[in-house]
Amino acid sequence: MDRINQILEHPLYKKYMAANAVKEKGRIFCRHNMNHCLDVARIAYILNAEENHGVSRDSIYAAALLHDIGRHVQYETGEKHAFASARMAPDILQECGFVEEETESIVDAIYHHSDKSEIGKRGLRGLMAKADQMSRACHSCQAAEDCKWSEERKNHKIEW
Ligand SMILES: [Fe+2]
Ligand SMILES: [Fe+2]
Repeated sequence: MDRINQILEHPLYKKYMAANAVKEKGRIFCRHNMNHCLDVARIAYILNAEENHGVSRDSIYAAALLHDIGRHVQYETGEKHAFASARMAPDILQECGFVEEETESIVDAIYHHSDKSEIGKRGLRGLMAKADQMSRACHSCQAAEDCKWSEERKNHKIEW
């Protein structure tokens, strides 16, 4: 099986995504589910191609699938979910055949994905930060008033 689908089938990945779903059961906006992960993967892959970042498709999809796996931890302990996800990702990556160099760059991108200052930078880190931001349809959100994002950060228009 290819490495991306190995992640999808990994018992820990399933467990973490299920834990996110439990914690976000009543959440009406910006869930951290499979749809969001795939949105981030596809947006990042398009940006990678259009802007010639030269990042491998495997690294982009792996980072996107794993970037929010620690979200349930943030609900439980308050730890930033980007840090929790970066801590939880290496075991899965190694067991799915990613070598050390790939794992390092994927984990680095996961760790920094919520950092606004990374948006627009070259490489996987910048791609993840920008794709994560672009994935949210703030302009059509029913819960804009409850959102913690600043007005400046919100996507008020479709970027295309
Ligand atoms: Fe996130
Ligand atoms: Fe995300």
